[in-house]
Amino acid sequence: MSNSLIVGKLNIMELNKMKSIIVSMFVAAGLMVAGSAMAGGFSTSTCKTCHEVGKDKVGPDWATVAKAYGDAKTLAGVFKSGFKVEDRKVAASNDKWKAQAAVMTGMFNSNIKGHEDEAAEALFAAVKAGKI
Ligand code: HEC
Repeated sequence: MSNSLIVGKLNIMELNKMKSIIVSMFVAAGLMVAGSAMAGGFSTSTCKTCHEVGKDKVGPDWATVAKAYGDAKTLAGVFKSGFKVEDRKVAASNDKWKAQAAVMTGMFNSNIKGHEDEAAEALFAAVKAGKI
């Protein structure tokens, strides 16, 4: 009687252990999916070379960029229409950035084209998080 009680207790402990192993396996699988989605889609790692949230770097502060566009949809729209210099809200109102528009055009062609929505959403998410 008392033996089977102990056995029963052990089984519950084993079950709980298994549960937590299974849960962590699902978490790991989820992370892997997120990682591969990023690798095949869009990552802001290159943007970090020139942009920051909270201050200007080589390019303008992303907080300034987010403020100029208002929302990710509007920015994605400008990306989708070819990101023409005259359509760029930051460069349009700032001669210093306008003079460097070609730098960003290169970046647009190599990293943003084809990922317009993800890039715009990533920028607004970075501003919300306070860092890229
Ligand atoms: C080599 C430096 C460099 C890199 C890397 C870079 N940028 Fe820029 N970015 C600039 C410069 C310079 C400007 C200012 C010129 C301009 O606004 O067109 C700028 C401006 C911008 C603007 C504002 C455009 C406007 O004028 O309204 C957006 C949006 C932007 N970058 C997004 C990105 C994203 C997203 C990435 C990563 C894929 C990125 N940048 C990577 C240099 C860079």
